[in-house]
Amino acid sequence: MVLPLLTRIDHVGIACRDLDRAVELYQATFGLEVASLEVNEEQGVREAMLAVGGSPASGDRPGYVQLLEPLSPDTPVGRFIARRGEGLHHVGYGVADIGTTLAAIGGAGIRLIDERPRHGSMGASIAFLHPGDLGGVLTELVQFVSPA
Ligand code: CO
Repeated sequence: MVLPLLTRIDHVGIACRDLDRAVELYQATFGLEVASLEVNEEQGVREAMLAVGGSPASGDRPGYVQLLEPLSPDTPVGRFIARRGEGLHHVGYGVADIGTTLAAIGGAGIRLIDERPRHGSMGASIAFLHPGDLGGVLTELVQFVSPA
C-alpha cells in the first residue's frame, strides 16, 4: 500500500465493570475531563470519552480514553470482562475514509467484524477488524465527522 491507511491513534478502549468509578479514577489520577457520555444499545455499552491533549479551539480532535461498561453480561464487553477481566479492550485508529479503508484492508485478507461502518461515539463512523488477524488486538477504525 502506498499511503498509510491510519492517520492517528484516536482512542484506547478500556473495559470496566463500573463506569462511574472508572471515570472518577481517570479524573482523580490524570485530571482528564469527560467529553462525552453515551449509551450505545447496539454495542451493549455505556461509555465515556475522556479527552487527552488536542486543542478544541483550533479544531484539533484530541486523543481519547474510552471507558466501556457493559449493559449486561451477555454483550461483547460483558463477555470480554468475564473471560479476561477489566482492562485494555481495543485500539481505535483514525482513517480518512472508512469505506475505502475497509475495502482495502478486507482486500488484503484481514477479516472484518463490520463489513460496513456503524455508528460510534461522538457521531463517528466506526468499524472493527478481527483480532485474530491482527496479533490479538481488537482494532477499530474511526472516521470522525467534525460538527458543522
Ligand atoms: Co472504540
